[in-house]
Amino acid sequence: MRLSQRAESLKESATLAVSAKAARMKAEGVDVVSFGAGEPDFDTPAHIRQAAIDALNAGQTRYPNPASGLNVARKAVCDSLLRDAQLTYKPEQVIITSGGKDAAYLAFHALLDPGDEVIIPKPYWVSYPEMVRLTGAEPMFVVGPESRDYKLTPDLLRSAITRRTRMFVFNSPSNPSGVTYDPDEVRALANVLQEHDIVVLADEIYDRLLYGGQKTISYASVSAKAYAQTLTCNSASKTYAMPGWRLGYAAGPVEIIKAMAKLQSQSTSGAATFSQIAYAAALGGDQACVEAMRVEFERRGAHMWRRLTAIPGVRCPKPTGAFYCFPNVSAAFARLGVDGSTAFASRLLEEAKVAVVPGEAFGMDQHVRLSFATSLPQIDKGLDRIEAFLGKAGQQRATT
Ligand SMILES: Cc1ncc(COP(=O)(O)O)c(C=O)c1O
Repeated sequence: MRLSQRAESLKESATLAVSAKAARMKAEGVDVVSFGAGEPDFDTPAHIRQAAIDALNAGQTRYPNPASGLNVARKAVCDSLLRDAQLTYKPEQVIITSGGKDAAYLAFHALLDPGDEVIIPKPYWVSYPEMVRLTGAEPMFVVGPESRDYKLTPDLLRSAITRRTRMFVFNSPSNPSGVTYDPDEVRALANVLQEHDIVVLADEIYDRLLYGGQKTISYASVSAKAYAQTLTCNSASKTYAMPGWRLGYAAGPVEIIKAMAKLQSQSTSGAATFSQIAYAAALGGDQACVEAMRVEFERRGAHMWRRLTAIPGVRCPKPTGAFYCFPNVSAAFARLGVDGSTAFASRLLEEAKVAVVPGEAFGMDQHVRLSFATSLPQIDKGLDRIEAFLGKAGQQRATT
């Protein structure tokens, strides 16, 4: 069977691959602690589930009309952007998509041609480079210093811009590092970009999960120019614990939204109708559920980070958002005889029965990603095992 070059050259999502291997081991009866998941471990709040049930019972089972998003959902997105980010959008500036992933996918395909360049800060969410490559464009990576938790400086961003730069991907809070840009840092990057004809894909999917008093600002709200050059993407998955509902959106310039809608009309035909109605209920309803989940994530993240950074040789940015720790574990590589994060993660899974995602998938091979979207007892159990694994590795080496 001959497959397309495009399909052959595409990498499988490493995050999904690790979860799948851990799930296989669990199904075989192995007691695996999984830090692989990129999804909340909470159920979707009851009032949101009820809105979907009501929609189904009311016959909302037809194709979404229009495909680019039900008016009720687009209006709810506009209202929430005004309430949470002081951003004014009209419904025609919004497209409802099948998850935040679909929003990014459609955006890249609407904007990129072969030969174009997209600046992607490292560490990056796994899917950006592959999505960009699928369009024929080229991802250009740039990384900030470790002392700044890998955050870009304006100078670094400026030096990455070329004549061919068409887009900049800005994901804050970050998956996988859990790092968040504060308002002044966002403004400083926007100052650089506003001199250029570059579209910013602001992936703000973790914007409601901030910890330790961290402040941030929606990229598009920085200035009129930033607003005009930004596509703000978000999703129901992380904020409302709705990853299986496949709901997200992009908001931005009408001509980009229209191009994305055209692509959507020829691919998925839009996000599921009753899901969209539930998303509108989530965005417009009581936000106490969001805060309750945030508080719990904050507790777990602080605990995981304290335990990780207490392990000799492990360095880790403090998570100020999202639900991930991204430690540098390379101090143990030589002792373990492994050549990078994938071999490290594989040994950790096989020998210590702990699933983490290799940092290689996020462009940084000295790190691994641990999700703290799991219970505190599981976090402690997994960290006990990691400590023992790293301690044992040290002892093994010392005696050989
Ligand atoms: C940074 C980032 N963007 C987008 C997504 C896509 O999420 P979804 O398609 O579930 O909305 C994820 C999911 O892990 C993510 O971490």
